[in-house]
Amino acid sequence: MIYLDNAATSWPKPEAVYQTMDTFLREKGANPGRSGHDMAVAAEKVMEETRVLLARLLNAADEKDIIFTLNCTDSLNLALKGLLKPGDHVITSSISHNSLTRPLRKLEHGGVKVTRLPPCSEEGFVSPADIEQAIEPNTRLIAVTHASNVSGVIQPVAEFGEVAKRHDIVLLVDAAQTAGALPIDVQAANIDLLAVTGHKGLLGPTGTGGLYISKRVELGTLKEGGTGTVSESEEQPSGRPHMYESGTPNTVGIAGLGAGLRYLMSRTLADIQMHKQTLVDRLLDGLAAIAGITVYGPRDRTRRLSVVPFNIEGWSPDEVGAVLDQAFDIKVRTGLHCAPAAHKVLGTYPHGTVRVSVGCFNTLAEIDFLLEALAKIAGAEPATLAAGEIR
Ligand SMILES: Cc1ncc(COP(=O)(O)O)c(C=O)c1O
Repeated sequence: MIYLDNAATSWPKPEAVYQTMDTFLREKGANPGRSGHDMAVAAEKVMEETRVLLARLLNAADEKDIIFTLNCTDSLNLALKGLLKPGDHVITSSISHNSLTRPLRKLEHGGVKVTRLPPCSEEGFVSPADIEQAIEPNTRLIAVTHASNVSGVIQPVAEFGEVAKRHDIVLLVDAAQTAGALPIDVQAANIDLLAVTGHKGLLGPTGTGGLYISKRVELGTLKEGGTGTVSESEEQPSGRPHMYESGTPNTVGIAGLGAGLRYLMSRTLADIQMHKQTLVDRLLDGLAAIAGITVYGPRDRTRRLSVVPFNIEGWSPDEVGAVLDQAFDIKVRTGLHCAPAAHKVLGTYPHGTVRVSVGCFNTLAEIDFLLEALAKIAGAEPATLAAGEIR
């Protein structure tokens, strides 16, 4: 089996992630912050170690500014709904993932004004100058996606940060695809809110995520309840991170996320980035040599994440995905990838594309096998062939 769907979730995880989660549940599976016994203290320690690692990866000055969430969607909802009030204005791009688009739509129905900027090029880049021009007196937030899960295009977030800083506007970055894939420095890039997910590039399990909240920003809470602190009060306690983390956390997941972060840091981000770039280069060169295949996304390979969308003439993306799965045991994602507007920019709406997304454990041999499979598919007649006949 060849897994090439790492933009959806990374798989496999580093061996240490499986082992850490197993050991954690057997030996430290108590409720952190709720009791004073040694098992609860051990669970709390694991959580706080993971928080420190995540803060270090993002260059957050204070690990208390890192809030654990369930995923990137959860983080984005907290950032947007904790910040925005009716009458506020938000600038965003028209090509975001539904995790950003849908909460903004909901807020818009409640009286928040939203400006959706189209990309300034067919490759999907959003222009800092366009953002600056769209600023109004009541602009509270610039909300952007660091890199597209559809085309892989990497946006110039540090330049967005300069605009935000110049105008004293909050910058929110959806880093679902980039945390663990690209270096991120929230301080240098003037990012106030950064939403990450634990189960993609950070190599942790599903059900984990995080939100960085700079000291410049105060967010309202979206949920209130037990935090293990100030138990005598019926009011939600203030103070980060616990005020945002009501309810028993996903401790085993956070333990696994810590192991993922440790793997990432010991192998180094630069090494993983280079490995993935080698695979993507081979893939793009190979795809260019197969007649009938159209690849989408930025031409400049340094401005593209390890996500490669393409279509094969005469085939729907779903047909290609099904043949890859059934005849070659290769797992890719097809369709709109929860981001229909990005496909409208690429000209691939409504059917979408086939998307190959490589991870840190993929090999050149796997890419070569994929290319051989795609060459066979591109050379075959879709309607007349059952999946098994292609192989
Ligand atoms: C750009 C982007 N934003 C947000 C999300 C949502 O992440 P999660 O499913 O972890 O909430 C994804 C997931 O694919 C994504 O690619």
